[in-house]
Amino acid sequence: MKPRLATPLLSTLLATAFLAPAAAQAQDPGDVVAGESFAREVCAECHAVEKGDTLVALNGAPPFQQVADDPSASEIGLRVFLRTPHKNMPDLILTEEQTDDVITYILSLRQRPPQQSER
Ligand code: HEC
Repeated sequence: MKPRLATPLLSTLLATAFLAPAAAQAQDPGDVVAGESFAREVCAECHAVEKGDTLVALNGAPPFQQVADDPSASEIGLRVFLRTPHKNMPDLILTEEQTDDVITYILSLRQRPPQQSER
């Protein structure tokens, strides 16, 4: 008969593999403050990155406020977009952490859909 030594290790591995990512996804993936300074440093070259700033850049880069207010904007969508080459900036390569932070920042700008009386 085989000793069942493997069992505790296996359940630890399974718990790590399945529970940890689930737990991580339960909260905000990134750091808003870090994302904001990263956006100011790197993305502001083309995008309006400040909350409430709706100026579209000359090169067509949409303001982050507008990106956030797009009803179809989602963490997943932004993640996919940032992983694929940016048309006008092929060298834009972000680390996982930068991606998380900047996406969290962008989505933090989201406001309620504007009321008609507001504009
Ligand atoms: C060199 C200029 C430039 C820089 C720097 C830049 N972008 Fe862009 N970005 C653009 C342009 C131009 C577009 C619109 C055309 C396109 O989709 O490629 C765009 C589009 C986007 C979109 C798509 C919005 C949408 O849903 O249509 C997102 C999201 C975005 N950029 C995020 C970022 C982030 C985050 C950074 C900083 C890490 C960044 N960009 C840096 C030029 C830039």
